[in-house]
Amino acid sequence: MDTTLAKLRAHPKSIEIQQYLSDKLSAERLQHVLAVQEMAVDLACVHKADVWQASLAALLHDSAKWMNAKELYNAVRCYEIHLDPIEKVNPSLLHPLIGVQLAIEKFAVTALEVLEAIRNHTTGTPSMGVISQILYVADFAEPARAHRTVDLVRKLAYTDLSSAVHHVARAKIEHLLEKDVMIHPNTLHTYNSTLAYVEN
Ligand SMILES: [Fe+2]
Ligand SMILES: [Fe+2]
Repeated sequence: MDTTLAKLRAHPKSIEIQQYLSDKLSAERLQHVLAVQEMAVDLACVHKADVWQASLAALLHDSAKWMNAKELYNAVRCYEIHLDPIEKVNPSLLHPLIGVQLAIEKFAVTALEVLEAIRNHTTGTPSMGVISQILYVADFAEPARAHRTVDLVRKLAYTDLSSAVHHVARAKIEHLLEKDVMIHPNTLHTYNSTLAYVEN
């Protein structure tokens, strides 16, 4: 294992989070989280971003994924989180919001870049910072992921992060259209705001 990743995983805070995740998440989900962490740390090294923040955001991004819809809506009420009209009817959009609360309350995370990355990892948002961009891309493109454009995203992730973000948003929009389900405006805004970075 890469020494940077090994050192990050050996940090007491990482061990505490990994213990929580292995208690709460399925083996498959935990594997996904660790793969996202590995790719996020790699990307942070390449793009000279903060490797600790990238690692922390990746470790925590799906920390509320063990909750079912009822538990997620209960947690939303408990934390008094305001939901927009699409979040109100789409429980799959709630785990990032609860993940932020867990990061703050359970793991004492204060770095805004980390909290924003967790918050943005499903829909994206325009003008994402580098940690948000890295997590958004790594969550889509870790090695176990399969999508028609995943190889393109993996390649762009290391050379042109904004273009990679654009192709992730594009793939998500295509997927949601195929399923005939609602598209969150932030996904469309992410697509629009990164279009200028794509070479034609
Ligand atoms: Fe997620
Ligand atoms: Fe994920």
